[in-house]
Amino acid sequence: MAVRPVLKMGHPILQQTAAPVTDFDDPKLAAIVGDMFDTMAALNGAGLAAPQIGESIQLVIFQVANNSRYPTAEAVPKTILINPTITPLSDTQVDDWEGCLSIPGMRGLVPRYQSIRYTGYDLNGTPLAIEASDFHARVVQHEVDHLFGILYPQRIKDLRYFGFESELFPADLS
Ligand code: NI
Repeated sequence: MAVRPVLKMGHPILQQTAAPVTDFDDPKLAAIVGDMFDTMAALNGAGLAAPQIGESIQLVIFQVANNSRYPTAEAVPKTILINPTITPLSDTQVDDWEGCLSIPGMRGLVPRYQSIRYTGYDLNGTPLAIEASDFHARVVQHEVDHLFGILYPQRIKDLRYFGFESELFPADLS
């Protein structure tokens, strides 16, 4: 397992639709997941999508517990999600600040569905179906967007609410 370099916004792999995983027994899959957890932990991420480490496959991970980059966020269970789908449970969208390890130092105010149902598979190929709301739902929507070549700035409605963390939230630097 290893901390891998994270691709930054502008890299073409981040703009592609990732390929579905078809072989859950491929040992490379577990190795990629291990590298993703190491990389996410090293950078205090809330989630990571495989394309961010240059692997263009439909795989995301997320986990939030006492995260210094998201100090007020509720906990999100450690999840490996493969070949995901997302269904909104209502039309309600909420705005909140997001960051991304592929866009270091910046934050943007992004609308997301408040409540969703997401499905997919875990690392063993076992189907998952989970209902989530608020920050948990936001993290899933952000990460799954990565699998379709979408980064959060593309979702921002008012670009005045996109900028450098140090300028938007100067008090947090103390
Ligand atoms: Ni991201």
